[in-house]
Amino acid sequence: MRWFGSILLVLAVQLRPSDSTCSIVDFGGIGDGQHDNGPALTAAVNACLQRGDGHVLVPAGNFSIQPVAFDKNITNLRLSIEGLLFNGATPETLPSHAKAIITFHESRNVTIDAGISVRSASTGVVDGNGAAWWTIRRKTPSFFAPVLFLFHNTVGTLVRDLWVRNSPMFHLVHENAANGVMDGVLITAPADSPNTDGIDLSGSGFIVRNSRIDNGDDGVAIKPSCANVTITNNTFLHGHGASIGSIGENNGTGHIANVLVENNTFIDMQNVARIKTWQGGHGSVTNITYRHLRVQDSDHVIFITQYYCPSSQHSDPCKNYTDAVVISNIIFDDVTGTFQDSSPGQLLCSDTFPCSNVTLRDVNLQGNSKHYTWDCWQVHGQATNVTPPITCLDT
Ligand SMILES: *[C@@H]1O[C@H](CO)[C@@H](O)[C@H](O)[C@H]1NC(C)=O
Ligand SMILES: *[C@@H]1O[C@H](CO)[C@@H](O)[C@H](O)[C@H]1NC(C)=O
Ligand SMILES: *[C@@H]1O[C@H](CO)[C@@H](O)[C@H](O)[C@H]1NC(C)=O
Ligand SMILES: *[C@@H]1O[C@H](CO)[C@@H](O)[C@H](O)[C@H]1NC(C)=O
Ligand SMILES: *[C@@H]1O[C@H](CO)[C@@H](O)[C@H](O)[C@H]1NC(C)=O
Ligand SMILES: *[C@@H]1O[C@H](CO)[C@@H](O)[C@H](O)[C@H]1NC(C)=O
Ligand SMILES: *[C@@H]1O[C@H](CO)[C@@H](O)[C@H](O)[C@H]1NC(C)=O
Ligand SMILES: *[C@@H]1O[C@H](CO)[C@@H](O)[C@H](O)[C@H]1NC(C)=O
Ligand SMILES: *[C@@H]1O[C@H](CO)[C@@H](O)[C@H](O)[C@H]1NC(C)=O
Ligand SMILES: *[C@@H]1O[C@H](CO)[C@@H](O)[C@H](O)[C@H]1NC(C)=O
Repeated sequence: MRWFGSILLVLAVQLRPSDSTCSIVDFGGIGDGQHDNGPALTAAVNACLQRGDGHVLVPAGNFSIQPVAFDKNITNLRLSIEGLLFNGATPETLPSHAKAIITFHESRNVTIDAGISVRSASTGVVDGNGAAWWTIRRKTPSFFAPVLFLFHNTVGTLVRDLWVRNSPMFHLVHENAANGVMDGVLITAPADSPNTDGIDLSGSGFIVRNSRIDNGDDGVAIKPSCANVTITNNTFLHGHGASIGSIGENNGTGHIANVLVENNTFIDMQNVARIKTWQGGHGSVTNITYRHLRVQDSDHVIFITQYYCPSSQHSDPCKNYTDAVVISNIIFDDVTGTFQDSSPGQLLCSDTFPCSNVTLRDVNLQGNSKHYTWDCWQVHGQATNVTPPITCLDT
């Protein structure tokens, strides 16, 4: 009997995907959609890292989790999600300290992917189960909702070939992080889901590529302070596009520099290329390039405002102040396609700190009637080959 048991044990060990992989089912995980797998995930990560090889597997199944946080000592981890990781928290049960469903704090070289599976509708999914928060936040925008992934003070996070969907708030947040790469990520949330940003970035050195983001707010939002960002070969649908800001709310300070948004497609968007700062802020936005963008049926294709004040974030009209975030060296180059609203673009800058060196080159935007004009205020720069023609730039 004892002999027979050890043969079974040997067989079971050999049937694992690889000897070095830590599957959460070996640490108490149960993929029945009910059991809280946060402790199993934490145990698998700790065991795998202590053993010296860090490949943790969430296999096929519906693995519910309550919020988990990984602290400073995570280095060289690969987390492969072949099944479904499902946020089991609700607005009623979310612990008050939980800012995110899954947090990495000060980790280095963490990769999150879909493992050996080919991404499809049924493999490699992290679902934020956000609908209950959206219902509340449509009525009460200030009601707190957690983000799905928070990478705080991390270095070298790679998210690859994964479907991340239905976050209560933002989906993938890099906060004061460095060298993050998002490659081949699918992010989805309904077009009318509030504040479901795809990717939020602050820190330095980010690449977002080969991804598809179909959501209800910014596709990628570059937040203060942030530098050195490349966003390339992505498709954006329905949301608010590739946004810089907002910066300068409540007289705040922020700097954003060296952003390249190149070779992307935008379909049915509320905004495409947008820079937004508040009156009274301090800091700068400089060296931003939007190039080779293809646009279909979108509103607010080219949009700069130093008067940002959405009613969802500020119930009263905002006052004008003399201070403003300084905007300079902005290029829109080869931006073509079709737009829907009454203006191909607005460039609205401050009286005391006008925008400087704003270039529009080879911009061709077709609306569905003939009477379109650009709106400009206090914007200095140059335009070549722009349709409809732009005559409101100050040289
Ligand atoms: C996973 O489990 C949750 C909780 O039981 C359920 O709401 C959800 O529909 C399940 N998802 C799938 C794809 O089975
Ligand atoms: C990380 O730190 C936690 C808390 O101190 C500890 O329980 C865990 O074993 C550590 N993990 C590793 C891989 O060192
Ligand atoms: C990053 O972690 C992976 C394991 O997830 C490891 O194979 C790789 O060597 C690490 N890279 C660096 C630069 O430490
Ligand atoms: C951005 O990249 C430049 C050039 O590589 C580098 O000099 C600068 O320090 C980077 N900025 C930040 C904030 O890391
Ligand atoms: C662009 O991304 C798609 C995936 O959306 C990929 O199939 C294609 O190879 C990528 N192109 C380049 C040039 O990397
Ligand atoms: C911002 O500064 C202005 C003066 O420049 C001041 O009147 C206003 O109260 C300040 N607002 C906040 C939110 O601190
Ligand atoms: C401007 O940003 C680009 C990336 O878009 C970068 O390659 C270049 O070095 C930056 N220029 C300066 C002067 O920092
Ligand atoms: C954009 O596409 C062009 C032409 O395929 C390519 O040369 C360039 O490297 C791409 N840009 C980025 C940032 O990958
Ligand atoms: C702020 O300044 C802009 C530009 O001069 C002007 O159009 C707008 O009416 C002002 N807003 C307020 C609240 O004074
Ligand atoms: C205008 O901006 C472009 C792009 O950042 C930069 O290369 C150029 O040097 C700037 N020109 C001036 C006069 O600052």
